[in-house]
Amino acid sequence: MKIFSGIQPSGNIHIGNYLAVIKQWVAFQEKADCIFCIVDWHAITVPYETKTLQQKIKEVASIYLASGINPEKSIVFVQSQVKEHSELAWLLNTITSLGDLQRMTQFKDKSQKHSQNICAGLLNYPVLMAGDILLYQTEVVPVGEDQKQHVELARTIAKKFNSKFGETFKIPEVSVLKIGAKIMSLTNPDKKMSKSDPESSRIGLFDSPEQIKKKIGSATTDSGREIKFNPKEKPGISNLLTIYSLFSDKPIKDLENAFASQSYQSFKQSLTDLLVEKLEPFRNKKSELDKNPEFIEKILADGAKRAEKQAQETMQKVKKVMGL
Ligand code: TYM
Repeated sequence: MKIFSGIQPSGNIHIGNYLAVIKQWVAFQEKADCIFCIVDWHAITVPYETKTLQQKIKEVASIYLASGINPEKSIVFVQSQVKEHSELAWLLNTITSLGDLQRMTQFKDKSQKHSQNICAGLLNYPVLMAGDILLYQTEVVPVGEDQKQHVELARTIAKKFNSKFGETFKIPEVSVLKIGAKIMSLTNPDKKMSKSDPESSRIGLFDSPEQIKKKIGSATTDSGREIKFNPKEKPGISNLLTIYSLFSDKPIKDLENAFASQSYQSFKQSLTDLLVEKLEPFRNKKSELDKNPEFIEKILADGAKRAEKQAQETMQKVKKVMGL
């Protein structure tokens, strides 16, 4: 089985990215051929800092490694180091319907947020993503809820290409968790946790115990006092229960029972202790990797070589069937 997924080096990677996606990757790694990409070409479709981009890329790589991605087993690389991604994206652009791109929820949200600065790349972003996936004959794409629509579009594009030019691409399936595919913001639990929102709304994987304590302490809870999972009526507590459940590997029902007679405050204290403990390996691994930047550079260079080989095989097929 072939797996492909990626994360943008924008903002700080948070526990939503980890719980919904990277944890799935680590599990897939045991039974599949996996490719994990750092998608820098996606990150430049909205305003960004040129000076810190390389540092952000290294940070994402450290997170992959700290989470248990093994670069000897899986391929870890940076998108812009394999030029076939842009080449395939261009070719797929010629068969993608403009209407499909305009109806993408993320395009609508991001173009509203950056209304003074909407570039064509933002609209075409899902075509680049389809290229990422199809380039490796991917069978399964593990993502969070918000990227499901883009993977569905990649399927549509692949089917259209195959029927127009002949069987060329595998049709990828999406893999989304049943619980935890959308971790919500700590300060506004009606919105997803986002790398680009204010610091207090999310827990970063490298956050210090003090930061975790402060953020969980001030996380929005709901009226009432029961620790019950009910996303409609109690979105704040339900989100914290989901985070607790995924980090502790305990079912939400068991947590509801365990905290039945306790206050929001003692539940938050217990969640803080859990997060401080579970994120400690991330902090430790980061300080270890920070001392040895060449190690990460070598992994990324080696990953790019391995990815390129597979990408070139697909591009040869694609060009042939397209008459190029
Ligand atoms: P990105 O960088 O926004 O997010 C990385 C992954 O994290 C998931 N995610 C979340 N999951 C649960 N709760 C949240 N609050 C939350 N926020 C983000 C996202 O769904 C995603 O899976 N376009 C992609 C990157 C990409 C990609 C690809 C993914 C580019 N090419 C090919 C898969 C395959 C993105 O912007 O993810």
